[in-house]
Amino acid sequence: MNNGSFKVRPEWYSSPERAEQEWDHVWSATWHMGPRVEELTDVGDTFLHTFGRESLIFVRDNDNEVRGYFNVCRHRGNRLLLAEDGPGFVREFRCAFHGWCYGLDGGLERVPYADRFDAETLADRSRSGLREFRTETWAGWVWFTLGDATPDLTTYLGPLKDRLERYRMDRARIVDYKTFEFGCNWKTCFDSFHESYHFQSLHREVLAWGNEDAPITLLNIHSKMINEYGRPSRLYEDQVSINTMLAAVLAGAGIDPADFPGTAADVRDAVRDAKRAMTGTVFPYETLNDSQLTDAHHYTLFPALHFNLFPEFYVAMRYRPHPSGDPERMYFDFILCVPLAEGVTPPDYSHRVVRGGAEPVGEILTWGDWKHPVVEQVLAQDVGLVEFVQKGMKSRSFEEPILSVDERRISHHHRMIDDLICGRASVADLISTMPVEQTGDQG
Ligand code: FES
Ligand SMILES: [Fe+2]
Repeated sequence: MNNGSFKVRPEWYSSPERAEQEWDHVWSATWHMGPRVEELTDVGDTFLHTFGRESLIFVRDNDNEVRGYFNVCRHRGNRLLLAEDGPGFVREFRCAFHGWCYGLDGGLERVPYADRFDAETLADRSRSGLREFRTETWAGWVWFTLGDATPDLTTYLGPLKDRLERYRMDRARIVDYKTFEFGCNWKTCFDSFHESYHFQSLHREVLAWGNEDAPITLLNIHSKMINEYGRPSRLYEDQVSINTMLAAVLAGAGIDPADFPGTAADVRDAVRDAKRAMTGTVFPYETLNDSQLTDAHHYTLFPALHFNLFPEFYVAMRYRPHPSGDPERMYFDFILCVPLAEGVTPPDYSHRVVRGGAEPVGEILTWGDWKHPVVEQVLAQDVGLVEFVQKGMKSRSFEEPILSVDERRISHHHRMIDDLICGRASVADLISTMPVEQTGDQG
């Protein structure tokens, strides 16, 4: 289904027709991350989530199951819940327009002047009940697909499931969550978080403590990249001194940098050993492999989600098409998750949508005094460019991207999207044909 002449086309980033095809064949046929399970603890808890043109309701029903409904009244199409995205509570779903009422199980329960309607239609749940979509729960998140034919979530996750479960993500809680609205296609933003080739240019300060030359592994329809931290890049001029960032890395593992006997080349191993020796922390050190104790393992879940996993926290980056349908606008969700010690109250973060560029990223994403350079500097640098890339790619002078092997996750991703759009493969076909590259540690 793939061929060597595959090219990423610039018009895929702005064509309304392409966006429609993506909606039908990609967004509607794949699994996506919805709310945290903690948002839906009690019967009647709801969570409203905008997904492209759709508004989706997640609810805990009377059988204590999480269910998903399109936020659409079957009478004349009004939205049932009119609130902003986020948590809520209902005893039933009552439409504000003409008063139709639905139970938590989605069934139509009351209709004013019901005798003036065709009784058979009202009694037929498939015609009058709320339209449901499939959900599953995994890693502390509720996942959803709008597609009836999408394989179950375990099949879909494939080689990622065991790898991600090492991080015990179910135990981490959201400590901050912001949505950025950008004037670019969702893939423009997605691509910029899909390679590390740009680290040596855009994120030069990372070279003092991190390796920009990041190994990449394609894992069926998903993929992974490892950003090694705790050692200067070979592009960095000083390979010996314990610079400020390396000192912070040591201190983070409980090692006093002033007493550290080694050089810069020894920091990563020392940090690994120190974390390996720790027991009883809230962090999943016991189940992580050596690389995972120091490095960021950056996973792509096809088609539009990144988990950037550090041993002490992770960031979920979720990309969504814009509700307007405009292919040159998008939502970028940045969700910071941290395992909290017993008895620590989860912070009351306030989710909001921020126009990209309107506020400095480093000041938007905070958790108390907590600051991490990847969040504070790196993210700001990345998101500062996406709208410029969007503009450049629209120029008549720009014929096509020229991709290196370090950017092969980008072609892997676009190729699968193109296979789905052009009907060369279904999601199930991709799962059964895309290879799983082997790595030594299976991490
Ligand atoms: S549109 Fe909902 S009751 Fe009429
Ligand atoms: Fe970046």
